[in-house]
Amino acid sequence: MHTIAIAGAGTVGAALIQSVLASVPIRLKAVLVRDAGKPRPGLPTGLDYVTDPAAILADPEIDTVVELMGGTGAAFELASGALAAGKHLVTANKNLLAERGPELFALARDKGRSIGFEAAVCAGMPVIRALQEALRADRVSAIEGILNGTTNYILTRMAEDNLDYAAALAQAQRLGFAEPDPANDVSGVDAACKLGILAALAFHRRVEWRAIPAQGIQDLQAEDLRQAARMGYRVKLLARAALDQNGRLDSTVGPALIPVGHPLAAVRDEFNALMVASDGFGRNLFMGKGAGPAPTAASLLADILDIAQGRGWPVGADHPFLAGPAPAGAGAAPCRLYLRLAVPDRPGVLAAVAGRFAEAGVSIASVLQPETAGGGGPVLVPLILTTHAAATEAAARLRETLAEPGRPAPVVLPIVDD
Ligand SMILES: NC(=O)c1ccc[n+]([C@@H]2O[C@H](COP(=O)([O-])OP(=O)(O)OC[C@H]3O[C@@H](n4cnc5c(N)ncnc54)[C@H](OP(=O)(O)O)[C@@H]3O)[C@@H](O)[C@H]2O)c1
Repeated sequence: MHTIAIAGAGTVGAALIQSVLASVPIRLKAVLVRDAGKPRPGLPTGLDYVTDPAAILADPEIDTVVELMGGTGAAFELASGALAAGKHLVTANKNLLAERGPELFALARDKGRSIGFEAAVCAGMPVIRALQEALRADRVSAIEGILNGTTNYILTRMAEDNLDYAAALAQAQRLGFAEPDPANDVSGVDAACKLGILAALAFHRRVEWRAIPAQGIQDLQAEDLRQAARMGYRVKLLARAALDQNGRLDSTVGPALIPVGHPLAAVRDEFNALMVASDGFGRNLFMGKGAGPAPTAASLLADILDIAQGRGWPVGADHPFLAGPAPAGAGAAPCRLYLRLAVPDRPGVLAAVAGRFAEAGVSIASVLQPETAGGGGPVLVPLILTTHAAATEAAARLRETLAEPGRPAPVVLPIVDD
C-alpha cells in the first residue's frame, strides 16, 4: 500500500490526517511535528509523531512526503530532502513554491518524481489541475482573478456595511479570515505569489512573483467603494496576467474598479475566483473558497491519490518552473482611471490639479467634490476624478505629480471595462 508521512499536524495537517484515516487506501506511517507531546484534540491516539525529519527521509517505506509546516526554511529542507531521497512531494505551501520552486522542480525532474501542489493556490478551486491538464493543449491569452480571500472579505464588508478599512480588517481577523499580521495579504504580496504560480502554468514560462507590480488595499476608504458603486462598479483586488500581441507577458496585482455585471464583481466575502481566456475553450470561470482546512485537505488528498495510483505528474524537463523567464511586456493596455485626492478646501485648487493632469498628458473625464461639513480653512477634502483612457506610464506619472508632502498619497485605480 502507498505509504505517506505528513509533516505538520496544524489546521491543515489535522484535517488531512482525518481524511486519510477515514477511508482511502493509503498508509499514514509518521507525522512530523515540532512538539510530539502537545495534546492534539480531534486526532486519534496511536499516531507515530516524530520530531526529527531524518526519521521520515531515511525511511525507505515512505513513498510520499506531504509538507504542511509552512514557511520556506525547515519546509524547504524537508521537501528537498524528500525529493533527493527519491520520494514524491505534496505540498500546500505557496510561499515555498514561489521562493524555492525551481530548485524543488529541478530535483523532482532529476529523480523522476512528482510534486502535487493543487492545495498551494486557491485551495478550494481545482485551478492547478485545470491549467496543467484540461488546458494543456490550448493557448491561454489571459488569466485574471480574485486570488486573496482576506482582501476580498475586507472589500466586501467596506462596500456592503460601509465599514472603514480598519474596522473591516478587525472583523476579518475576528472571524479567522485574516492573520494577526495581515501584511502579506493586504499589500498584494500573497496574490502576486499566487499569480506567479498560475501564470507560469498558463503561459509555460517561469514567472518571478517579485517582478509583478503589486499594489495593496491599505489606502482605500469606504468612500472609494461608495463612489465606485454609484458609478456602477465594484472595487476588487484584481490579479491579472495577459499576453500582448508580441507574446510578452504583462502581470499586475492591485485594486481595480470592475463593472457590476462582470462575473468577478459577484465574487463576495472570502471567496476566490479565476477567469481563464484561451483560444479553444474561450472563457472559463472558477470560483470557490480560497482556503480552509476542508477544501485544502480535499485538494491534498486528490494529489496523494493521483500519485499513489500512478496518475501523478512526474516533473519533466519542460515543466514551466524550469523554463526561462517570461519576456515582460510594456505594461497593461491603456484604461480609464479613478482617482481620489485629498486637497485643501479653497479656491484655485481645482485649476492647479487640472494643470497637473495636463502635465501628465491625461485627460479628465469627470470631477466630483462630495460636500463635507464645514468648508474653507486648512481641512483636506476628497476630490474624486475619472479620466479618459491613459497608458500605464501616465498613471504612474499622475501618482507622482499629484503627491503632496504632508497629505495622504493619491489613490489611483484602473477602471476595467471588459
Ligand atoms: N490554513 C489554511 O486554510 C491553508 C490553506 C491552504 C494552504 N495552507 C498552507 O498549509 C501550510 C500549513 O498551514 P496550517 O494553517 O496548517 O499551519 P499551522 O496550523 O501553523 O500548522 C503547522 C504545523 O507544522 C508543524 N511545524 C511547523 N514547523 C515545524 C518544524 N520546523 N518541524 C516540524 N514541524 C513543524 C507544527 O508543529 P506543532 O503542532 O508541534 O507546533 C504544526 O503542526 C502552510 O504552508 C499554509 O500556507 C493553509
